Amino acid sequence: MSLSTKRILLGISGGIAAYKSADLVRRLKERGADVRVVMTTSAKEFITPLTLQALSGNPVGDSLLDPSAEAAMGHIELAKWAELIVVAPASANLIAKVAAGIADDLLTTLILASAAPLALAPAMNQQMYKAKATQDNLTRLSARGVALWGPNGGEQACGDVGPGRMQEPLELVAQAEALFGPKPLAGKTLVLTAGPTREPLDPVRYLSNHSSGKMGFAIAKAAAEMGAEVTLIAGPVNLATPVGVKRIDVSSALDMHQTALSYAPGTDLFIGCAAVADYRPVASAEHKIKKSSDTLTVEMVKNPDIISDVAALGQRPTLVVGFAAETQDVEQYARRKLERKGLDLIAANAVGNGLAFGTDDNQLTLITPTETQVLPTASKAELAKMLLENLAKQLSKKP
Ligand code: C5P
Repeated sequence: MSLSTKRILLGISGGIAAYKSADLVRRLKERGADVRVVMTTSAKEFITPLTLQALSGNPVGDSLLDPSAEAAMGHIELAKWAELIVVAPASANLIAKVAAGIADDLLTTLILASAAPLALAPAMNQQMYKAKATQDNLTRLSARGVALWGPNGGEQACGDVGPGRMQEPLELVAQAEALFGPKPLAGKTLVLTAGPTREPLDPVRYLSNHSSGKMGFAIAKAAAEMGAEVTLIAGPVNLATPVGVKRIDVSSALDMHQTALSYAPGTDLFIGCAAVADYRPVASAEHKIKKSSDTLTVEMVKNPDIISDVAALGQRPTLVVGFAAETQDVEQYARRKLERKGLDLIAANAVGNGLAFGTDDNQLTLITPTETQVLPTASKAELAKMLLENLAKQLSKKP
């Protein structure tokens, strides 16, 4: 019973995905949660309060001005009762109201009046989701620490295809479990690098690579959920900062090197997930390079190896973990890299077979000086958890 006795307030706003909320109530209850449902007026056009009352076993709130409901459990009492508020589906309108701090019905009032963590599961037409106004609202909410669960992409009820599908009930339940779950990294500090670097050629051009940063961001998110204090040193990527993570944006390998060396000393964990450029142009031209000749030769110089320098620090992090993307003889090359760079663990992955760069799934083998553990092919989010669980175990054995 992973959610045993957890008091979860489920808010339902108006959207076709509201039919899935009935199943969500069941799944939360199955795991032991005490669920109370609050609906907006438009949600009732999609699913009846009676259904949700029967499934939750509790009266369903829908009005701020209902004297009998207020007499049973007043809205302030309900706001204090909740240990977690989940709004699923969260419509574009609901999201906009919460972002603006509007409290004009029971659900938005409860959200404003509660100190409980808030999670929104956006569900709307893909164009509404992509609209600048919605994106601005989500960015503001995320910066305030509101968890955004989803949305997923795919075919929509209106026939469009794109982002805006509500996460499935079991995905939402998994996130609630993570929120309440054990915190094996509580009190631990993690610094990690993620994404590509950009090596400037001139004021307008750079050399870079295809790293999406997804693996590193997934690790940062999972580590924060496991209770770690996370500093994410990110190369230029197009990804939202996970809730609770301190992010420092950098561009070149030299920037990343300097930032990593200033944050890593004395920490518990350092994970080098970035695809750092091995070389940079010897000098970045002061002005835009003109296409005056048929060939262009750029002299390159080796970048510092960030993770090796972190592993050699006087105040070395307790565990230093690297990644190795290889196209052949994965384990052999990775093991050599582990030794050469002075690492405690290297997560090796085969690239070039549809996995790794830019994808959501990955396959990792965890290699330490004494052991090899092959993880199953899974989403980067799941692999991040498996890697961190392994590291949490190792940290717990250290004095
Ligand atoms: O040597 P290679 O690039 O294959 O090693 C990969 C590992 O080393 C990754 O963990 C990566 O983040 C790290 N690395 C680094 N600084 C570099 C090159 C790689 O920290 N200049």
